[in-house]
Amino acid sequence: MKKLFKIVLFSVGMLFLQSCYYDTVIVDEGEVIPPPDDISYSEQIMPIWADYCVNCHKGAVAPDLRPSNSYNALLNGGYVLTGDADNSVLYHSLLGTNGVPLMPPGAKLSSTNINLVKGWIDQGAKNN
Ligand code: HEC
Repeated sequence: MKKLFKIVLFSVGMLFLQSCYYDTVIVDEGEVIPPPDDISYSEQIMPIWADYCVNCHKGAVAPDLRPSNSYNALLNGGYVLTGDADNSVLYHSLLGTNGVPLMPPGAKLSSTNINLVKGWIDQGAKNN
């Protein structure tokens, strides 16, 4: 009887361990490419909006991330603080931190893309 109890206890313990294991979130499986020195807004950042954001952010939901409006919407809307990603709502939206909801909702971008946006802001958020 004692032995059976131990076996049951052991099995329950293993189940707990297993559930912890499966809770692990894999954020990014691919290789993380560090951001290059001079990031181009039109060539490297706008394509991210086109692929992951514009289907929702096309006017009615701020910021407007359509190609002709996104730069103004981000800079004048106060979502980007030039040179300061850590205090920019845009950067926090990609991480889901600082009380800003995660964008895209429920599906974090790759670290490579997040680092590109961070690099672009830290390099002065140029309209290049
Ligand atoms: C499925 C639709 C959807 C997608 C895709 C999406 N968003 Fe959003 N976003 C929203 C909605 C809705 C809001 C308004 C706030 C809320 O209700 O969560 C929002 C709000 C925001 C805000 C403002 C947050 C604040 O606190 O003011 C930013 C910045 C933002 N989104 C950036 C992005 C970026 C960048 C992408 C792409 C990487 C993206 N979103 C993709 C729906 C979306």
